[in-house]
Amino acid sequence: MGSRVLQLLVLWSLATTAFSLSPYYYKNICPQALPTIRKVVEAAVYKERRMGASLLRLHFHDCFVNGCDASLLLDPSPTIDSEKNSLANRNSARGFEVIDAIKAEVDKICGRPVVSCADILAVAARDSVVALGGPSWKVRLGRRDSTTASRTQADTDLPAPFMDLPALINNFKNQGLNERDLVALSGAHTIGFAQCFTFRNRIYNATNIDPAFAIERRATCPLTGGNSNLAPLDPTPAHFDTAYFNNLVNQRGLLISDQALFGGGTTDELVNTYKLYPHVFWNDFAHSMIKMGNIKPLTADQGQIRVNCRIVNN
Ligand code: HEM
Repeated sequence: MGSRVLQLLVLWSLATTAFSLSPYYYKNICPQALPTIRKVVEAAVYKERRMGASLLRLHFHDCFVNGCDASLLLDPSPTIDSEKNSLANRNSARGFEVIDAIKAEVDKICGRPVVSCADILAVAARDSVVALGGPSWKVRLGRRDSTTASRTQADTDLPAPFMDLPALINNFKNQGLNERDLVALSGAHTIGFAQCFTFRNRIYNATNIDPAFAIERRATCPLTGGNSNLAPLDPTPAHFDTAYFNNLVNQRGLLISDQALFGGGTTDELVNTYKLYPHVFWNDFAHSMIKMGNIKPLTADQGQIRVNCRIVNN
């Protein structure tokens, strides 16, 4: 009897948290919502391939700070200490104009603001991955938008590029994500770019780096200056493939946090698996993206549906 009650309690708590999100949330509310988001994402990625990477990163940086609630999108104001000014986002997070464009299109086609900015981030991330040749998944929807943001929380919760494996594992664990999620989601670095200041220390000082690769990277990332010079996170930054894992095995990871996933630690085996079996990476990536998208969403009467993703409704 006791275990039956426990079972029901567990089911109930699941049903009232992340699992109240549903892939069919907008089916009746606004059936054109998802195709519209995809259209704008595809156009943006067609114009600039990197935008797909930038949009994927926005969803990650939203979810890791107080859950997937679009808190990241709020601009600074007298009441908002914007997460855009946090260490990991300042002069780095990009793609906000594309989110604005999606929101405008979606609200127009739906006739009113019914699609949350948090859901737009989740769908845009998926559509970006697909546009760059990666896996697809059914995005759970029904998130609502926060009325607050926290730069200090962002500074605490977003992982830093110089973290070692134990620190990364701990950082993900704090979000309810395990080692497998860490490796799979780090595979997002199969697309996009990083600025010199995020990997300078590694290419000049690390010992677990392919010397030829270090020399190659130093050419566009000098010891002083050139902080914002870009380098691709893997050799094929516009293609969602497994080159990232191949690279790690060859000590060609760009960030300290990338190479931390391979080099004698507990995640080596999984890196090898993803390198050898792309379909395993694809499956795990999709699974972990859904899991990340389920982090502490606001639902039902919590939060609001913002009219402008940058501003709290008054
Ligand atoms: C594991 C811990 C992680 C760390 C320490 C980390 C750190 C970074 C850093 C430092 C950059 C370069 C930013 C810049 O130079 O402006 C970057 C780029 C990027 N990150 Fe991560 N990241 C992590 C995990 C993730 C995850 C989980 C995702 C998504 C699921 C992700 C997606 C991306 C993408 C797509 C880019 C390229 C963005 C662009 O080109 O605009 N990262 N990351």
